[in-house]
Amino acid sequence: MLKIVVCVSGGGTNLQAILDAVEQGRITNGEIIAVISNNPRAKALERAAARGIPGIVVSPKSYPDREAFNEAFTAKVCGLAPDLVVLAGFLVRIPPQMVAEFSDRIVNIHPSLIPSFCGVGYYGLKVHEKVLERGVKVTGATVHFVNEGMDEGPIIAQKAVYVEEGDTPEVLQRRVMEQAEWVLLPKAIDDIANGRIAVVDDKVVSR
Ligand code: GRF
Repeated sequence: MLKIVVCVSGGGTNLQAILDAVEQGRITNGEIIAVISNNPRAKALERAAARGIPGIVVSPKSYPDREAFNEAFTAKVCGLAPDLVVLAGFLVRIPPQMVAEFSDRIVNIHPSLIPSFCGVGYYGLKVHEKVLERGVKVTGATVHFVNEGMDEGPIIAQKAVYVEEGDTPEVLQRRVMEQAEWVLLPKAIDDIANGRIAVVDDKVVSR
C-alpha cells in the first residue's frame, strides 16, 4: 500500500478528487496518510478532517527565513515517510533538499499544457488569465514529476480543454479543473500506486 502525503494551499478541490477516488476504488493500493498545508485557513484542511485524515500546518510565517522553513518542511515530510508526495494546488516552492530526497516521488498538477503557460509567475488564476490574453483556443492540465526546475519534470499525463468565447479566467479555471485536473490527478496516482509507469531517461513510460 503506497503511503501518500498531499500538500495543499487553498480550496482543495484536487484533494477532494483524490479522496473521492480512494473511497470509490478508482485509486487502489494507496492511502492518504496526511495532508500538509502552508496555510492554516486552507479549506483543504477541512476536507481532510472530514475523512479523518490528519492535517498538518507548516507555515513559512512561523520561521525566520526561507532556509529555516525549508528545513522544517522537509523534516516534517520525511518524518511521515511517504512513498509519494502529491502537490495538489501547493503554492510553495519545494525545497531543493526535498526534491533530492524524493526523486521521481513528488507529483504536481499544473493547470496548462506544459511547456505552455508554466514557470515563474504562472500559478492559480494567473495561468488562465494569460491563456485568455494570448487567445489560444486549447488549454488543459498536466501532471508531472517534480525536479529541481519549475514545472520542468517528466510529464506523466496531459488532457486538453477547449477555451470558449466569453470565458472569464474563473469560468475557464473551473472547466480545466472539471474536465482535466480532477480526472488526471487521481488516475496518475493510481498508475503510480499500481506500478504502471516508470521514468526512463527523464521521460515517463508505461510498463
Ligand atoms: C488548481 O488549478 C491547481 O492546478 C493549481 O491551483 C489550483 C488549486 O485548486 N496549481 P484546489 O486547491 O485543488 O481547489
